[in-house]
Amino acid sequence: MIKTIIEKEILNKYEVKGPRYTSYPTINNFNDVLGNENKSLTKMLKFFGHIKAQKPISLYVHIPFCDSLCYYCACNKIITKNKSHADIYLDYIQKEWELYKNIFHSEIEINSLHLGGGTPTFLTNEQLRKLISIFNPHSTSQKIERSIEIDPRTVNKERLRLIRDLGFNRISFGVQDLDISVQRVVNREQSYEEICSLISAAKKEKFHSINIDLIYGLPLQTKKSFSTTLKKIIGLKPDRIALYSYAHLPKIFKSQRSIESDGIPSSNEKISMLENAIDYFNDAGYEYIGMDHFALPHDEISMAKKQGRLFRNFQGYTLHNDNIVGLGASSISQYDSYYYQNEKNIKSYYSSIDNNKVPITKLFSLNKDDLLRREVIMKLMCQGFIDFKELENIYNIYFHQYFNYELKLLDEFQKDKLVKASKDSITITKKGWYFIRSIAMVFDSYLRSSQDLSRFSKVF
Ligand SMILES: C[S@@+](CC[C@H](N)C(=O)[O-])C[C@H]1O[C@@H](n2cnc3c(N)ncnc32)[C@H](O)[C@@H]1O
Ligand code: SF4
Repeated sequence: MIKTIIEKEILNKYEVKGPRYTSYPTINNFNDVLGNENKSLTKMLKFFGHIKAQKPISLYVHIPFCDSLCYYCACNKIITKNKSHADIYLDYIQKEWELYKNIFHSEIEINSLHLGGGTPTFLTNEQLRKLISIFNPHSTSQKIERSIEIDPRTVNKERLRLIRDLGFNRISFGVQDLDISVQRVVNREQSYEEICSLISAAKKEKFHSINIDLIYGLPLQTKKSFSTTLKKIIGLKPDRIALYSYAHLPKIFKSQRSIESDGIPSSNEKISMLENAIDYFNDAGYEYIGMDHFALPHDEISMAKKQGRLFRNFQGYTLHNDNIVGLGASSISQYDSYYYQNEKNIKSYYSSIDNNKVPITKLFSLNKDDLLRREVIMKLMCQGFIDFKELENIYNIYFHQYFNYELKLLDEFQKDKLVKASKDSITITKKGWYFIRSIAMVFDSYLRSSQDLSRFSKVF
């Protein structure tokens, strides 16, 4: 296999802060929904219901609870050991679903189901069964994708069997790092032996795809210690590996203030860890899918990338291009040219539902320019290619004229051999894929009007 050589200077040059583009425009641009607008929101959702009742949706359910706090965590979570909180929460998920069913006249069909968190496996076996039973009548095909995020500390072989029996066919384990000193300093201890035995149990259950999440840039990590983690993880042969750059934003995430900044690896150390990881993954046969994600060639996501069937949404890369209904506190939905987010605060979420209101707190309605830029950014991030003619026909524009400014900015990326721009297309080069976030930022018009990037994490 030919190695992708990425020069240090280029990595340093493009090491900026920027969005992850799970949506465009990014969530910080969504508008607050005021109480008196809620009526028109319900009207808006009713309208969707009338025109799109027959179109299957992708469903995301957010389970915010976790048993203990990992100091690095940037997710929307509630730390508790009290499982009865989840009983109440599941009742509200059911009520929220009923609101949607009323809007859609019950004719709602689910194409894929994703449980994310927090920690979905915080739920007891009984609670997991109850949750799935809510959606079963609307996801009749056994073939639909059902995926779940798993904290390895919350499952054993028997629970993995139950998860499989409930129809989940894709699972993702949060591992982050196997080094014990790193684990201690971030308050998340889990042994390699336990993870090893869970992965082999999961393989016996024949999940279609097993993913492992890793983070580089955590406190006390070194190139050497992280190499050991990488080798052990590769030895387990998961179908997919997500390698996230540690997003350290202590102003936003309070728990990160427990992390001493002098223990955090420098940018150069982080870049060495990334380079190392890319080499190891390449050598072990993993293909680079796009931002943070690697997969073995047999995995459906690798095949989808080759066949141009890859999409991106709030859960990251996906095989589905459906509208998304997000249930639960903080969940985000995507419906045609709208994005909207539920109340993050669990009490406000409960109170909206008690008042028979869809618990929406933020909304964004995309205009024509947003829709066009979303298509450009998503095509770059998923297919690594844009055909100007195709977009000109859909949006009635001249690409060169409309994106004159952006094409000039791309010259620099072209000089660094990260993109190949011809008179009628842009192609991301093999090396360019590692810089996809920086390339996408060129087309983000909201970044231009607000230069404050401090709310975003570094791209490496
Ligand atoms: C909801 S958690 C996964 C499920 C489960 N709660 C767990 O921790 O195993 C989602 C993933 O986000 C990633 N993550 C969380 N905080 C992060 C941060 N500050 N920077 C980068 N990745 C982060 C971790 O890799 C984590 O596995
Ligand atoms: S990393 Fe996972 S388990 Fe840890 S606090 Fe965040 S959501 Fe919870």
